[in-house]
Amino acid sequence: MKDKRTPEDIRSQEELKADCHIPQHIAIIMDGNGRWAKDKGQPRVRGHHAGVESVRDAVEACAELGVGFLTLYAFSTENWGRPKEEVGALMSLLIHSLRRELKTLNQNNIRLMTIGNREDLPEKVRGELEQTIELTRQNTRMTLVLALSYSGRWDMTQAVRAISEEVLSGKLTVGDISADTISDHLATKGIPDPDLMIRTSGEMRISNFLLWQLAYSELYITDCFWPDFRRPHLYDAIRSYSRRERRFGKVSEQLKPV
Ligand code: IPE
Ligand code: IPE
Ligand code: MG
Repeated sequence: MKDKRTPEDIRSQEELKADCHIPQHIAIIMDGNGRWAKDKGQPRVRGHHAGVESVRDAVEACAELGVGFLTLYAFSTENWGRPKEEVGALMSLLIHSLRRELKTLNQNNIRLMTIGNREDLPEKVRGELEQTIELTRQNTRMTLVLALSYSGRWDMTQAVRAISEEVLSGKLTVGDISADTISDHLATKGIPDPDLMIRTSGEMRISNFLLWQLAYSELYITDCFWPDFRRPHLYDAIRSYSRRERRFGKVSEQLKPV
């Protein structure tokens, strides 16, 4: 497999590993494909196609750094409302990318998972996803979570339904419901909350991503459009994350080791 790292990438990677706290879970809102294409006088779908290379780069870079989970927001519940042609192009791109990347995922020891309403996805996409998930199930180096037909409100709604069913059947009492119960019924069950959430293209919003899970994530927003996002951008985000003090509601003095 071809190593796409430049000597500068390798230097940054070593420096990050030595000096920075590497997030266990990074979540990314991959935004700006359409504007990237528009700036070049090209149709929006060209931006989506170009964004695949950024996905590859981010996945490999995270695995190299020892990130445990990488969640990519690839298609939101609201994105179904886009023009039919764009939705169709995104679905075919997904099928082709999954097929093309299976070998690389296995070579890199990366497991694929998805979160979102799989029932909404076309049969062909579902089949390809299920196959890729099955064929990467044993991989242990990193988990790649694709958020597809996902939204935070969808996730919370399905969790409330599942919890309600358990209360109705007597498996749970209302008093048993805690924050952990809710986390355990979300699509992200078993996945730690993101430490760092990156959004490309400069928009200062969450766009219905992991609403519950982002409660204490550090946010990093860059103006870079997703198709231009490469290893150095990721390294900048991790450097910024590493300089921050995560207080989780406490005061600084409480965090310092005595
Ligand atoms: C992100 O890029 C990809 C998806 C939401 C599927 P956009 O398509 O949202 O690009 P912009 O934000 O319109 O530039
Ligand atoms: C968020 O981007 C969803 C994904 C990246 C999949 P959008 O482009 O859909 O978000 P808005 O519409 O700008 O909030
Ligand atoms: Mg967008």
